Amino acid sequence: MNTSVPNTLYAQRRARMAEKLGPNGIALIPTALERPRNRDSDFLFRHDSYFYYLTGFTEPNAWLVVTGDGRSRLFCQPKDLEREIWDGYRLGPEAAVGALQMDEAYPIGELDAQLPKLLENRNVVWFPFAIHAGLEARVGGWLNAVRARVRYGALCPESQRDLCTVLDEMRLIKDAQEQDIMRRASAISARAHIRAMQTSARMLRAGQDVREYHLDAELLHEFRAGGSQYPAYGSIVAAGANACVLHYRADAAPVRAGELVLIDAGCELDGYASDITRTFPADGTFTGPQRALYDIVLAANEAAVAATRPGARFTDPHDAAVRVLAQGMLDVGLLDKAKVGSVDDVIASRAYFAFYMHRTGHWLGMDVHDCGSYVEPSEVGTVSERKDPLSGEIIKDRPSRILQPGMVLTIEPGIYVRPGEGVPEAFHHIGIRIEDDAIVTPGGCELITRGVPVKADEIEALMRG
Ligand code: GLY
Ligand code: MN
Ligand code: MN
Repeated sequence: MNTSVPNTLYAQRRARMAEKLGPNGIALIPTALERPRNRDSDFLFRHDSYFYYLTGFTEPNAWLVVTGDGRSRLFCQPKDLEREIWDGYRLGPEAAVGALQMDEAYPIGELDAQLPKLLENRNVVWFPFAIHAGLEARVGGWLNAVRARVRYGALCPESQRDLCTVLDEMRLIKDAQEQDIMRRASAISARAHIRAMQTSARMLRAGQDVREYHLDAELLHEFRAGGSQYPAYGSIVAAGANACVLHYRADAAPVRAGELVLIDAGCELDGYASDITRTFPADGTFTGPQRALYDIVLAANEAAVAATRPGARFTDPHDAAVRVLAQGMLDVGLLDKAKVGSVDDVIASRAYFAFYMHRTGHWLGMDVHDCGSYVEPSEVGTVSERKDPLSGEIIKDRPSRILQPGMVLTIEPGIYVRPGEGVPEAFHHIGIRIEDDAIVTPGGCELITRGVPVKADEIEALMRG
């Protein structure tokens, strides 16, 4: 159970959700399954984010059932001394009522017997669509049991609705407690990045053989030492040319003086992700070409930060970053003005895409790529068409989401240079990304990841230390 959030908060969230179900609606929310890894070993269990958002409960084998009248029922593992000797403490249904502010709680073994009774005489059944394999079939089985009773006068729910549409909108705006956890998660991750940078320089100065996994080990040390449960996603520790592989993982490649290291890593703390990327010279000193590209990416990051404020569109930080990157690519000769034209031409033709092929951010929260619509809900009917200049595909655009205080997003521009015709050799194999996490505030945004510096001079200074 997460003790850093008062359990009244979860009850409030369930009440807010219940208002959207309709008086005769019912919502079913299972937590995640335990998954086998190999033979009799399981993957480390991670609760389902929606379930956790509504309960704060981290045990496996649990379901939450909420009805439109606001009543919450939990199904969870029963107390079992023998199982608890092997697997650890279980809260059990009796204690769950008080500890989790439930109205009722039952052993999980009663789920199949109780669900048809709970579904009877409701009109809508809500559950998260396309999240849990087999859930639709399970709901179907319970509905079938209700249908068997219609000749006795029972009513069977006539519609099924996606509960994600309700919960995604709630989760998109982070409340004060969520923002506080995310600030703390980011602070731990920032310390981990500093530790990895300093270890890289120190080991190289000592003439040691440095591998990507050595730096990954430093990240993990700081995550766990800070109280984080685990990394929020697979850490990327990419030395040299590996930085140009966008989904590279921490592996065994040598970390060499004179090359850059790109680390994209963040811890998960009490159910919330952080997501930081820093790129630094392995030995603590940028070369001229590295620094030239680094400063362009940093300027793009700053431009995107300045564009992150209430009332702006989700795409505004991306557009601001792209303009700075495109101009920088022209200035240093990554793009040839004679061939691609002005900065506006580069943006219109997407010529920058050869070196910047991803978006500048995403929602961040319980999931690293968090839920929430990227389309402005009030304008979902407004559709425009454009032809993509690279693929020729016709793309339908809807107005991008308008940013509001409490939304949390990443800002992560980059430049990745693979050798190619006309690409200056000095820049070959350089990959740079600078990623920060921002909470939208009434006046703009709060960067919660700057515990680790971004300025090249500051990175060099801390790596000398
Ligand atoms: N670390 C995943 C991302 O930056 O999107
Ligand atoms: Mn990210
Ligand atoms: Mn990242």
